[in-house]
Amino acid sequence: MADLLQKDRNYVWHPFTQMQTAPDPLVIVKADGATLYTADGKEYLDCNSSWWVTLHGHNQPHLKQALLNQFEQIDHVIFAGATHPKAIELAERVVGLLPDNFRKVFFSDDGSTSVEVAIKMVFQFWHNQSIDKKRIVALEGAYHGDTFGAMSISQRGYFNAPFEHLFFEVDYLPFPYKQKEEEVLIAAEKLFASDECAAIIVEPLVQGSAGMMMYSPSFLERLVALAKSYQVLVIFDEVMTGWGRTGKLFAMNYIDSTPDIVCLSKGLTGGVLPLGLTVATEAIYTAFLSPIKTKALLHGHSFTGNALACAVACANIDLIEATSFKESIHRISEQHAAFGDSLITHPKVQEVRQMGTIIAVEIKVSGSSSYFAEIRDIAYQYFISNGLLIRPLGNIVFLNPPYCVTNEELSRMYDGIRGLLSHIE
Ligand SMILES: Cc1ncc(COP(=O)(O)O)c(C=O)c1O
Repeated sequence: MADLLQKDRNYVWHPFTQMQTAPDPLVIVKADGATLYTADGKEYLDCNSSWWVTLHGHNQPHLKQALLNQFEQIDHVIFAGATHPKAIELAERVVGLLPDNFRKVFFSDDGSTSVEVAIKMVFQFWHNQSIDKKRIVALEGAYHGDTFGAMSISQRGYFNAPFEHLFFEVDYLPFPYKQKEEEVLIAAEKLFASDECAAIIVEPLVQGSAGMMMYSPSFLERLVALAKSYQVLVIFDEVMTGWGRTGKLFAMNYIDSTPDIVCLSKGLTGGVLPLGLTVATEAIYTAFLSPIKTKALLHGHSFTGNALACAVACANIDLIEATSFKESIHRISEQHAAFGDSLITHPKVQEVRQMGTIIAVEIKVSGSSSYFAEIRDIAYQYFISNGLLIRPLGNIVFLNPPYCVTNEELSRMYDGIRGLLSHIE
């Protein structure tokens, strides 16, 4: 273990990590169900599903078998000028799970690239028709990924300040707190009414990285309808909210209106392999059809449509279609709701937010909530010493566990959060 850590220190540069001051990482040597096992013989519950990706738990037999079977057939093939059965199956099944207006699936590598593709689709949709619409609307607090386009439409601030001079201009709407919904809709209408407005992108109902900030389906419904009334394209970034996280299969299932483009990743492969999808309507797709080659979407990645990832994603959909999937989500949602209720009046708790399998506890701090709140490291270490891998977003502690989590494991997570609240009193 010491040897591994030394080599990690020698050779590895970790994401979102100040390497000079960060404590040693956990050395995980095995993952099974909701549990992670470290080289020094300890166990940790994976309370945030390994950066929100693991859906059914680690080492899931059906997903594993699909991966092994696919390896026997095709590992990877070029996806321009060639196709393969699992990509075709996946595209058909994903379209089948989405509202009727969705037709075409574009493959990429992860959440950020699925967003990049969506941005390119909307800009080129207008460009191909010689319509001068070049501005995108996003929500304050948004997080859409770490590539340049995705950063451009995300919340500006300390995460991306060094690159800000390279971003394209974006119009931001304030976060739609319940009491501000009308105000935000008025601001939205002003932006949508401009001839230049190409599209709006939102994380529907839950802004993940902002601290699991939640807003109402009725607001989203009205926002989408408003955008459509001004021919503004609507992109839903369901990278985090997709695959049951909000209690329904997709956050868009809470409303009747539908977006024009949806971005999917994270739980798409059950959290086993990286894969991103950008799914578009027929109208979007048609705008790229022409005898002129440059009107095509000239975008792709070496690993586009990776066959192993597609096979695992198809197997993931098998699991999603099983009745146990809905039952687990329902069970976790109910457990979360009861736990949340028990904390509402806690003197250290500012707010509890819950939707489906996501529950966030915002801890009171002096000053406003922040990703760099001092309590974050205290909470992280407290959880680690109690066998829980929880990565708070500043002073916001949240759980979005794999759906295989047992009620006993959930109780351990809740006890951990209650313990933290006593610990800091
Ligand atoms: C809503 C949303 N969009 C996009 C991304 C970026 O996905 P990835 O980290 O796979 O690039 C994330 C990642 O957390 C996300 O939460």
